[in-house]
Amino acid sequence: MDDDRCFATHLECSATGARHAGEAPYGASAAGAPLLVRYDLDAVAAALDKEALAARPAALWRYREFLPYPDPAGVVSLGEPMTPLVALPGMAARLGGGRVVAKDEGRLPTGSFKARGMALAITMLKSVGVTEVAVPTAGNAGAAMAAYAARAGMAATVFVPMDAPEVTVREAGLHGARVHQVDGIIDACGRAMVETMPETGWFDLSTLKEPYRIEGKKTMGLELAEQGGWRLPDVIFYPTGGGTGLIGMWKAFRELQAMGWLEGPLPRMVAVQSTGCGPVVRAFDAGLRAVAEPWAEVDTEVHGVRVRKPFGDRLILEALYESQGFAVAVDDGEVDEMRAATAAVDGFHLCPEGAACLAAYARALGDGRIGRSDQAVIFNSASGLKSPIPEVFDVQT
Ligand SMILES: Cc1ncc(COP(=O)(O)O)c(C=O)c1O
Repeated sequence: MDDDRCFATHLECSATGARHAGEAPYGASAAGAPLLVRYDLDAVAAALDKEALAARPAALWRYREFLPYPDPAGVVSLGEPMTPLVALPGMAARLGGGRVVAKDEGRLPTGSFKARGMALAITMLKSVGVTEVAVPTAGNAGAAMAAYAARAGMAATVFVPMDAPEVTVREAGLHGARVHQVDGIIDACGRAMVETMPETGWFDLSTLKEPYRIEGKKTMGLELAEQGGWRLPDVIFYPTGGGTGLIGMWKAFRELQAMGWLEGPLPRMVAVQSTGCGPVVRAFDAGLRAVAEPWAEVDTEVHGVRVRKPFGDRLILEALYESQGFAVAVDDGEVDEMRAATAAVDGFHLCPEGAACLAAYARALGDGRIGRSDQAVIFNSASGLKSPIPEVFDVQT
């Protein structure tokens, strides 16, 4: 087949369904909601089959027909491998014998799943001549943006909380980004960025305020489907801050379903947050379609979920309801325990957000929301090495 055929047809407003007019680079919709990329899925199904796909390199751009920019020559890539599903037999036994594996996103460039979204977004922005990008970030998105911007020859500016994991801040600087440390969490970073923007030529890469990071995160869902022989797990636990990955995976599953590529049912999607910042959990438990009030007092060291009110709250909640999933808040004590236990028992170093997913899995097993025979996937969204390591053991000298 033609290597440079593009199957994306248009952008659609996620709130109104209206086709988006206007010219690239694209931000949010006219109604102020996230934009979604739509495809001619019949044409994808006619152009690609599972065998041809299986023969391609085990990397993100193997899914190019499902992505908006399939010309290999124009792609900004740092080598994004398919990430493995790592069994956690020791922890499964400890939790009374469930079936749980971790999708290890720590293997991606810059050590987190943020690479997927930034690979797509920076590729698309470069193709339309953008030269300066900026983002408010909990840490990892800024590091990933800085790396891909460096690769694309763009100037990058990052707004990051003063207390973000130090490695993510230094990393962004190392990749040549201008780094502003802000007193507050990601919303304060966003405000600081917006105040500065009028004097700059920056393109705003904030979570869900442009359409392409979702498409990059969608590849997590495409990979899961392919890795399972086009049969999806029963339940997926995802650490939810802005929710790009949860929304992206659900979009991937719907697209594959529309193409008739999936065997068996869609998985239940579970949003994992913290008792110290759980706006989606609160909204879900109240049966709401959106987060009513931003979370007031944020108090958690699970930095990836420190978002008071996600911009994509409606899309996150929609995916939870449609998938008959749910939302779980865990506390930092459980997260630290899971992280240390998994590292010691299974030799696998979860990041705090990944450990939160395992803690949520344990809770869901405990309260019967899932069963021991359910195949669960937890997302280890970054390498454990990107966050401070708790001092849990005495070091012998
Ligand atoms: C390690 C980690 N996990 C999870 C998240 C939350 O990701 P999302 O915005 O897709 O919900 C972040 C975001 O900062 C993160 O850095």
